[in-house]
Amino acid sequence: MQKNRTLGVIGGGFMAHAIVSGAISSGFLAPEHIIVAEPDAQRRVAFSRLGTLVTDDNRAAADGCRYLLLCVKPQTFPAVAEDLRNISLPVTISIMAGKTKQSIRRQTGAGAIARVMPNLPCSVGAGMAGIDSSELSDEERDFVYALFGAVGKTVEVEESLLNAVTGISGSGPAYVYLFYRALVQAGVAEGLSQEQAQALAAQTITGGMEMLRVTKKTPDELIAAVSSKGGTTVAALDRFAQDGFEQSVCRAVHAAVSRAEELSE
Ligand SMILES: NC(=O)c1ccc[n+]([C@@H]2O[C@H](COP(=O)([O-])OP(=O)(O)OC[C@H]3O[C@@H](n4cnc5c(N)ncnc54)[C@H](OP(=O)(O)O)[C@@H]3O)[C@@H](O)[C@H]2O)c1
Repeated sequence: MQKNRTLGVIGGGFMAHAIVSGAISSGFLAPEHIIVAEPDAQRRVAFSRLGTLVTDDNRAAADGCRYLLLCVKPQTFPAVAEDLRNISLPVTISIMAGKTKQSIRRQTGAGAIARVMPNLPCSVGAGMAGIDSSELSDEERDFVYALFGAVGKTVEVEESLLNAVTGISGSGPAYVYLFYRALVQAGVAEGLSQEQAQALAAQTITGGMEMLRVTKKTPDELIAAVSSKGGTTVAALDRFAQDGFEQSVCRAVHAAVSRAEELSE
């Protein structure tokens, strides 16, 4: 088969839809240059609506593309690898958590492989992806960076650090929601309505991060700017320190990284 399609995608689930939507809406890829293999007919319709080609045949998606994006769950991968046996795979990009390049290569005979750890906010164009593109040529690397750049920001890391990426940005959106929820609960406990507390907490988190980005000041400088001696912020910060807030964050991230290591193969 001629290499007439740019991107084959295996597994048309949540993440695949976010990435493919971003690639199309940003103008990076034309939908007719993408083929998505997905067993579920309804999920295929979601991709047809984007204008991509769809199939239920994994081999058809992999064969004839310049790049293959693996978006199935790690536990599904052995069945996918079986489908891909004895075909010469294009440059392979895996977003599967914990599946090492060595393991993917052992099961499929793939040549160059990039691993990417994206996160949930990819679906609204505000994702963060850690990328190991060390096996790729410059042109191939540009492709991967443009693909994930269409749905958020990107950072290059060695494969051995992808579990750390998982612990920070992969699982991290949940930590942010937890902090937000705790702030809202605290606001309600202090007498605010749910709506009032949500508005205050959401804009404080968004505005705080925006200020960090715009001013390029350090967190310490901005904490100092909010704090006055003997004031309210210092009272809260002292309480956080007594309760070991920062150590708790470190331990939580370490737990996520350790779990990612346990799940890696
Ligand atoms: N979600 C996240 O925040 C996140 C972040 C980073 C990385 N990841 C990684 O991204 C990958 C996909 O995650 P997701 O959240 O998008 O999962 P998902 O929504 O479950 O997508 C997986 C898709 O693969 C399909 N599938 C199942 N068996 C298949 C087969 N044999 N051949 C082809 N397709 C098959 C599933 O179809 P059925 O539903 O019909 O089974 C489903 O549509 C995972 O490896 C995960 O580790 C996810």
